[in-house]
Amino acid sequence: MRVVMLASEAHPWAKTGGLGDVLAALPRALDAAGVTVTVCVPGYRTALRTAGHPPAARALHAPIGSRMERVDVVPVQDAGVRLVLLRADRYFDRDGLYGDGGADYADNAERFAFFCRAALEWLRTEWPPPDVLHVHDWQAALAPAFLRTSPALYPELAGMRTVATIHNLAYQGRFGWDQWHWLNLDPRFFVPDFLEFWGGVNYLKAGLVFADGLTTVSPRYAREIQTPEFGEGLDGVLRARHERLRGILNGVDYAVWNPATDPHIAAHFNPLDLAGKGRCKAALQAEVGLPANDAPLLAIVSRLAEQKGVDLLAAAMPEVLRTSDAAFVVLGSGDERYEQPLRALAAAFPTRVAVRIGFDEALAHRIEAGADVFLMPSRFEPCGLNQLYSLRYGTVPVVHAVGGLDDTVVEFDPATLAGTGFKFLAFAVPAFVEAVHRALATRRNPTAWRRLVLNGMTQDFSWERAAREYATCYRELPPPPPVVL
Ligand code: ADP
Ligand code: GLC
Repeated sequence: MRVVMLASEAHPWAKTGGLGDVLAALPRALDAAGVTVTVCVPGYRTALRTAGHPPAARALHAPIGSRMERVDVVPVQDAGVRLVLLRADRYFDRDGLYGDGGADYADNAERFAFFCRAALEWLRTEWPPPDVLHVHDWQAALAPAFLRTSPALYPELAGMRTVATIHNLAYQGRFGWDQWHWLNLDPRFFVPDFLEFWGGVNYLKAGLVFADGLTTVSPRYAREIQTPEFGEGLDGVLRARHERLRGILNGVDYAVWNPATDPHIAAHFNPLDLAGKGRCKAALQAEVGLPANDAPLLAIVSRLAEQKGVDLLAAAMPEVLRTSDAAFVVLGSGDERYEQPLRALAAAFPTRVAVRIGFDEALAHRIEAGADVFLMPSRFEPCGLNQLYSLRYGTVPVVHAVGGLDDTVVEFDPATLAGTGFKFLAFAVPAFVEAVHRALATRRNPTAWRRLVLNGMTQDFSWERAAREYATCYRELPPPPPVVL
């Protein structure tokens, strides 16, 4: 089986969050399971630089609005996976992926419509064509719609099936009706049954309607998004296609996230020898300017976005600081309005709160290794990777019981010593603070804490299981609809 994955991120060429991690690891795991995967991402400035500016294999043209625009197909060798960058400097030779300084690029509707058209033009030139086109998130979601609504343009791809994966339903790629013309679709698709959404265009909806198969990144999130509470306005569309929707939990790339081998951390450790974890904590305290002591160290590494519950965190921190001796280390980047309250807390409690604003991959590893407790008070969480990294690094997760967080963390039971972390149900300060206190109380019992840490470290969330489930999903796709010209 041959699969092409279309996405807007793939680590290390382009990453702003978990999507990039998934596109780095899932293709390799599928390769190992006998599925040949090629990943295709836009030829961003950062991606071309990371790849060492390889030469283009060929130049093609793809339609965008009323013109044709050139795209260079740039295969990247020696990438561990087969990677193709679609280079169009007019759209992608910029500092950011989606925007600069907190604001989205004004032409994102055009940029990602072009990305999808360009990908299909490239695939037309591939022989044999892939069996499956697997698109991720809204940036790639137009491709199944282009394919099925204009089959006459893509006769070579008539046998190809499509899967769309939702990594986050909150990001839909919604644009005004005035952007519709970029798509070159017949106006009869600008209706609620297809791409129209509250008067505008919805790119993700295009994928949800036209892909042969749908997946999302945890079983619980697959159920949640079919409800109005988590459906972001698309729950009806998802309910209508529920038979085609499945939740496949993400995995962890244990080659990258492993405290026994991690090159970023001060000392290595493993379930049989935890001494290195203490050294990692001391090194982290020194690095972020916290006093060297045994007080519990609570950590957050997160995009600063509404989804992540940063407001709940900032509201709960003073309460935790008042009622315990815990310290905090926060690494985050994103929405500037969340920076201010975090910085204010760091200024008010300089010996107990360290805040680093920015995106720092290596520091993220050192925080996972050095902290005692990891906090994920997300409003919603499709899967979440950081709680999985935390488990492997012996850093106990405290999470809001939603989506993938609920699927992957098991509440610790002091009576049986089973469980891997602590969960809270109500998205409210008292419930969150109470869960933090359950963690802190357990830490005061060294025997229970050690068991809890080891329970987490020995969990296996490797990609092999997920890869098997994706392979099954590909095999069970219905045949493509007949082409009516
Ligand atoms: P999401 O994709 O919603 O942001 P995930 O938990 O799935 O959430 O993945 C987040 C990924 O991004 C993890 O690899 C995490 O370490 C990383 N990350 C998020 N924010 C930062 C940051 N400020 N610096 C470094 N890494 C970050
Ligand atoms: C999204 C989600 C996150 C998930 C990641 C990878 O960014 O917010 O929960 O882990 O995608 O699937």
